Amino acid sequence: MKDLDWGNLSFGYMKTDYNVRCYYRDGKWGEIEVCSDEFLKLHMAATCLHYGQEAFEGLKAYRCPDGKVRIFRVKDNAERLQSTCEGIVMPKVPTELFEEMVKKVVRLNQEYIPTYESGATLYIRPLLIGTSAQVGVHPSKEYLFMIFVTPVGPYFKGGFVCNKYAIVRDYDRAAPLGTGRYKVGGNYAASLRAHMYAAGKGYGSEFYLDAKEKKYVDECGAANFFGIKNGTYITPKSTSILPSITNKSLMQIAEDLGLKVERRPVPEEELPTFEEAGACGTAAVISPISELDDLDTGKKYVFGDKPGPWSTKLYNTLRGIQYGTVEDKHGWTTVVIE
Ligand code: PLP
Ligand code: COI
Repeated sequence: MKDLDWGNLSFGYMKTDYNVRCYYRDGKWGEIEVCSDEFLKLHMAATCLHYGQEAFEGLKAYRCPDGKVRIFRVKDNAERLQSTCEGIVMPKVPTELFEEMVKKVVRLNQEYIPTYESGATLYIRPLLIGTSAQVGVHPSKEYLFMIFVTPVGPYFKGGFVCNKYAIVRDYDRAAPLGTGRYKVGGNYAASLRAHMYAAGKGYGSEFYLDAKEKKYVDECGAANFFGIKNGTYITPKSTSILPSITNKSLMQIAEDLGLKVERRPVPEEELPTFEEAGACGTAAVISPISELDDLDTGKKYVFGDKPGPWSTKLYNTLRGIQYGTVEDKHGWTTVVIE
């Protein structure tokens, strides 16, 4: 293991030893290549640079107390990337190739997987880009699929602590029938100004309402939203939010813990009725929400400074499954290193 200050890592990039790459040429995927170069050599007219043919994924590897290394729901990430590929006309990366490359890159960089005690993890970032030169707006003929890893600490400072979010009405992340449900870089470009605006006012992140009517809850920056009331876990159904794998898992865990689960449009007026609220995602895990401030109307929705009892149970169960300390009833984890 590398001698790093695992407990003080931020959610940032750190160089590791290897990345893995696979090229799509002449209508088929090639062999997996192992590479130690952090840089890419790209044609200046590549479609990823001009027309946004770029998709990514995010998952983590966990060093567990039983000494094994596990990854979480890798098939779901492969399938979401395939859905993104359909969305922006790129060739699908087969699930087996995706999974093999994830395992390979984790094993090759195992010295960078943080210790269990540190609470840090190895973030895995698959990236798919169109590489052939086009000047007209057309999909690329050639693609590069690659994966790098980097050790990360919590996305929000402090980890499982409450954060304040700002409802922004002057920015949309994605249109109702746009690319919000796909994991493409353009959505994140569209979120940067809103993020800087909210962060500049001291908020953990920006919070989006639906782009069309500004009536319904969409997403919390780079995470999904959930609220809990009357023994029910409620999360928005919307065509413009990313289908979060963490949220999908929490819906199942909520049901396993005896909560009812509802996935439906959530009007802003419902916010004051929630007993607990949180943001969830691979990076955020669960990040409980202390307060949601609507910066334009001045309304404030307050949920409290301490994580609520259901959010805590959900968090502990999810983390327990990821770290192999709670039974993995649904077969979500894959052991990558025994
Ligand atoms: N929403 C957005 C916009 C995201 O970027 C992410 C992170 O991937 C999520 C939600 C959470 O998704 P997941 O739980 O699959 O990481
Ligand atoms: C996630 O993986 O949960 C993310 O939201 C990725 C983010 C850093 C863009």
